[in-house]
Amino acid sequence: MQGSGPLNGDIPIGGAKNSALKLMAASLLAEGSTSLLNVPDIADVAIMSELLEAMGVEIERIGDRIDLDVPAELDPIAPYSLVERMRASIAVLGPLLARIGHARVAMPGGDDFGSRPIDMHLQGLEQLGATFSYQHGDISGEAHQLVGAEVFLEFPSVGATENLMMAAVLAQGETVIENAAREPEITDLANFLSQMGAMIDGVGTSRVVIEGVEVLRPTTYTTIPDRIEAATFLAAVAVCGGEVLLKGARPDHMEMLIRKLEEMGMGLTVEPSGLRAEVTDRLRAVDVSTLPYPGLATDYKPFLVAALCVAEGAGMVTENIFAGRFRYVDELVRMGAEIRAEGRHAVVRGVERLSGAPVRAHDIRAGAALVIAGLAAEGETVIANAYHVDRGYEDLAGKLTSVGAQVTRA
Ligand code: UD1
Repeated sequence: MQGSGPLNGDIPIGGAKNSALKLMAASLLAEGSTSLLNVPDIADVAIMSELLEAMGVEIERIGDRIDLDVPAELDPIAPYSLVERMRASIAVLGPLLARIGHARVAMPGGDDFGSRPIDMHLQGLEQLGATFSYQHGDISGEAHQLVGAEVFLEFPSVGATENLMMAAVLAQGETVIENAAREPEITDLANFLSQMGAMIDGVGTSRVVIEGVEVLRPTTYTTIPDRIEAATFLAAVAVCGGEVLLKGARPDHMEMLIRKLEEMGMGLTVEPSGLRAEVTDRLRAVDVSTLPYPGLATDYKPFLVAALCVAEGAGMVTENIFAGRFRYVDELVRMGAEIRAEGRHAVVRGVERLSGAPVRAHDIRAGAALVIAGLAAEGETVIANAYHVDRGYEDLAGKLTSVGAQVTRA
């Protein structure tokens, strides 16, 4: 990849990875044929497909649509070989317990975000009547009949809220999830479940009330656009300049990010077909602090750090969601960035231009941040372990190239 800019043109935004994966897991809740539209063709979706196929689901992809044929009998096992490759595999736990009363799912290990426990998922499901045992690295869950309960989450965990919602829709009676996460992907899952026949109230608020039903029916549903993919392209425009229309993006899902970028000096216009971004001058540094939605998403942070690397002035970045999510900083420093990171904080002092270098991706978003840094760098940047980027992006290089960037996926 070469330093590039300015960027000009349209980029279509694909379906949201973090939504599509949960919709796929939720399809287990109803026997029959569910179709999901606007599903990105990315490695994580392929892993979720492999996982569901191992359970007996037949899956076919036609363009951006996937058809899932869910049988009456399921083999409720999520092996370590797949869970290890994608933590979101844990999303099958709730649906399996609700639909067939047992599940055996490998415990996800740690990852580059630091330790990521699933205690809130398990405690919540226990409150609905599930019991768990552990052997050989797996969790086995049993639930003869889940029964609704009031669950108070210690933190608005996205994954725990989703697993509980997917379990509660088939539980007996009412479940209340207090301090529920409110991310747009959760609203998407709730809308999908409602279309399957679930009864859910308070969607998009921190108090979600679910009245269990006896059975859900398969349906056809369109995934929301990926706000994190959109944010990646916004950061690309931030460092390269130019004018780009993000076709299909949902500005209403990205309000805090839009405010932040405007504060930095980016021009953003909501249009009927999407979000237009324009940058004519070097952007100004701002402070960034991640929070649960509607706060600034932790997934945006690596892109904002990359943008701050070449902004005017210094910005303080604070991570409030995951303990260790600054590993890519060392890679940015290899490219000439001036960053001091300690614990949950990093101070980024903008430089005029980064310097292309061989670097390494440690996770999806860190990899994408290095792509953005590479666009802002003089000379060539080569990113090792770029497969991390493929987990979450459909043709990132192609989309960036189409607006004038110089990026190739070797
Ligand atoms: C999801 C997203 C991820 C995003 C994150 C926060 C997917 C596939 N991934 O991850 O991209 O960065 O939301 O928006 O949708 N925690 C516990 N115990 C639990 C569960 C979570 O302590 O049982 C902690 C986590 O360690 C973390 C915090 O809660 O510190 C938030 O995690 P959570 O919201 O659950 O993130 P994920 O669902 O894993």
